Order: sequence, then structure tokens, then C-alpha cells
Amino acid sequence: MRKNIVAGNWKMNKTFQQAEELVAEVKDLMEEHEIKHTEVIVIPPFPYLEMATDLAQGSPLKVGAQNVSDHDYGAYTGEISAPMLASMEVNYCIVGHSERRKYFREKSKALAEKVKQLLNAGITPIFCCGEDLEKREKGQQEKVVERQISKALFELEPDDFSRMVIAYEPVWAIGTGKNATPEQAQEMHAFIRKIIEGKYGKDISENISILYGGSCNAKNAKSLFKNPDVDGGLIGGASLNAEEFLKVIRGIPA
Ligand code: PGA
Repeated sequence: MRKNIVAGNWKMNKTFQQAEELVAEVKDLMEEHEIKHTEVIVIPPFPYLEMATDLAQGSPLKVGAQNVSDHDYGAYTGEISAPMLASMEVNYCIVGHSERRKYFREKSKALAEKVKQLLNAGITPIFCCGEDLEKREKGQQEKVVERQISKALFELEPDDFSRMVIAYEPVWAIGTGKNATPEQAQEMHAFIRKIIEGKYGKDISENISILYGGSCNAKNAKSLFKNPDVDGGLIGGASLNAEEFLKVIRGIPA
């Protein structure tokens, strides 16, 4: 079944104490506002994951990681593997965020490995795709997204693919305050669903959650989430404050 999901990608923000406070606030607000039909995920930096999974225990709040190694164990100094994340009860992990593609030169081959590592460990990958401004201006957004998805994911068996979450994040909208319009988001989400249908069939394409990311906030969440192919959001800046994050979550149609 297609799930509504709102995930907060904290990126490299917050001290441990601030992070602890924010997880507790999100959890309390979810309880207070009886958020039950939307899967809410906090995605803090690695060192805070154990604190977050401890605090989330017994509540519907889920915890995700921002990255994972493409290896499972061994001499890879500074890396964190999928089995390690699973042993800390992490439920989700972002793969292929545009900041990682850009600053850490992550390529499709490594992203495909990361996805496999996560699926083997029982963690749901949130796979990010999206075009930059130059490609959007040339009208090549579909070509870019199709290539990103097919290169990293289309080797997966249907059963494995059906466990993925996709996030469409146009690079020009990330952290810029310039979100995609609801029409642009719907158009790209419908396109993504169509290419998934072409490869894996209607059953899988209709049931996969596709999130929008890029300057999504309390003001625009509702108009973005009301589109039939937008199943929620991957939220950066607006997830760093619990009240604002709650407003984004409440943008999901009842
Ligand atoms: P933003 O980031 O909401 O701050 O634009 C979104 C993301 O990078 O996932």
C-alpha cells in the first residue's frame, strides 16, 4: 500500500542536546495532534541515531540515516554500514542525495550498491533523484531523472524494488526557497510512476511512495501534497523546527 511519508533530513545541523530536544518535540507533537496516518521520519546525523531510536521507541516516529557505505564491513575508515544501522534499529536511509552526488562525487554504480546493502539489512532506502537548473532550463528533466533511476535501481528484482521510496528533488529547489510548483511536482511524479510502471508493472508503480523535496515548508506543503502522485515530502530546512515540521506533516490531506 502506498504510504504518506514526511521525512526530515537534518543534514549537518544541531548539537547533540539540540537534536535530543528536537526528536522529543516531534514525538510529543505527533502524539498531541494524533498523527497516525502519515509515516513521520527524523533523519539526524549519524552520532545521534542511537539517541533518536531510543527516544522513538514505543512511538510511531521512525528514524532514518543520511547515508550508508556501499560495503558491509571491513577496512573503510570513517564509513557506516547498513548492518550497523540495522543493529541500531534505523528504519530508513537516504541514498543519492544531490549534495552527496555533488560534493562527494557519488555515482550510480555505488548508489546501486548502497541500495542493495540497505535492502539486505531490512532498511528502506529513500532514493533521491532530480535535475539541476541547467537541465531544467533545457527541458531535460525527464531524461535526467529516468537515467538516475534506471541506472541505480532497475537491476533490482521486483520484490526488492517494491520496498523502495523515491524522492524527487530538483536540485534548483533545494535550500533555495524556490520550490517546484505543484504542477511541476505532479508532472515529474507522474513521469516517475510511468517509468516504474514500464519496468515493473502497474501494481508496483501504484504502490510505491514518491516524495517531493526542495524548499517544501509549512506554507507550500499542502498545495504540493494534494497532488495525486505526491505522497509526501523529504524536508530539509523546515524540519529543523518541530512546530514548522508539524505544519508540513499536517499538509498531508486527511
Ligand atoms: P530543503 O532541503 O527543504 O532545505 O530545500 C531538502 C533536501 O535536501 O532534502
